[in-house]
Amino acid sequence: MERTAETAAGLYERMREKLSRVVPDFELRYKAELAYRINTLKKERNAVILGHNYMEPALYHSIPDFTGDSLELCRKAATTDADIIVFCGVRFMAETAKILNPGKTVLIPSPRAGCSLAESITAADVRELKSRFPGVPVVTYVNTYADVKAESDICCTSGNAAKVVASLGVERVIFLPDEFLARNVAKDTGKRIIFPTKSPRPAAGAELEREMIGWRGRCEVHEKFTVEDIARARAQFPDVVVLAHPECSPEVVAASDFSGSTAAMTAYVERTRAPRYLLLTECSMGDNIAAANPQKEMLRLCSVRCPHMGEITLEQTLASLEETRYVVEVEESIRLRAAGAVQRMIEIG
Ligand code: 13P
Ligand code: SF4
Repeated sequence: MERTAETAAGLYERMREKLSRVVPDFELRYKAELAYRINTLKKERNAVILGHNYMEPALYHSIPDFTGDSLELCRKAATTDADIIVFCGVRFMAETAKILNPGKTVLIPSPRAGCSLAESITAADVRELKSRFPGVPVVTYVNTYADVKAESDICCTSGNAAKVVASLGVERVIFLPDEFLARNVAKDTGKRIIFPTKSPRPAAGAELEREMIGWRGRCEVHEKFTVEDIARARAQFPDVVVLAHPECSPEVVAASDFSGSTAAMTAYVERTRAPRYLLLTECSMGDNIAAANPQKEMLRLCSVRCPHMGEITLEQTLASLEETRYVVEVEESIRLRAAGAVQRMIEIG
């Protein structure tokens, strides 16, 4: 998408058209000015900006060349010919872009944009699991760091997890590190799930058929949503349609009307006609969907936020391009092994 030919006034108008119901005008003017400077610099430096669906609305609607969920951005990162990739998302996403583009400069605007799932498991943990379950393939959620991906056979995102597990065509799979995503995928793929961190070594044999071996990682945001939240929302708004990310507990997913990746939830709102929706995910995404669907009402529980995604601001992104900071590096032997797991996922879709 060519945006840098736009004047500052033109960019402000485009943002106002989308966001006047979501962002106050004085803030929009300030942010449009920042976004204009970023887009100018982006062109000068032959950079591409990838923006996750959780970016705050003014950033989301002004500077990214591509927006999407983890899977879509992974695919974009695999095909870009820009010299610099600025990843407006969290560190594991920027690392995945670097894994796929060793020759490019990959920048993340804040060094503090972590993820509770990525921090829940180490490469040593995965090696230990592999030694306890020899020969069992390891499926790793992309919300992990490169050294964990490097120990894995294949990666997945929330958008393709069940497909990736099914593609392996085996009865036993190690699925890391999100406990709730694992439980949700086990349900979708007809597998029983065990947690060896808490259970003794399981006995071998027929009873282990169709088994998934999980880990106790959790998203600090999605684990907070409860079935009671849904019941209260439905009591107040009987016609509300509830959407939950698959990092929510299986009970919350079961009480919802739809569960899917951030892109799948966005598409669901676009293709259905309910008057209002409750989004059980990071609240900025509700603003972004509301901006694109002005006739639909988005209810969101904004007391629950992802502090890591919130680290990425227009100010930090401008500084990132001005100062070439913060450069994401992945050690080459780790990168090569992690790239295999990511590429295998991309081939599956
Ligand atoms: P998606 O892959 O659905 O975009 O989710 C990423 C994420 O971090 C959700 O919390
Ligand atoms: Fe990680 Fe959860 Fe934040 Fe997504 S919302 S980046 S899984 S902490």
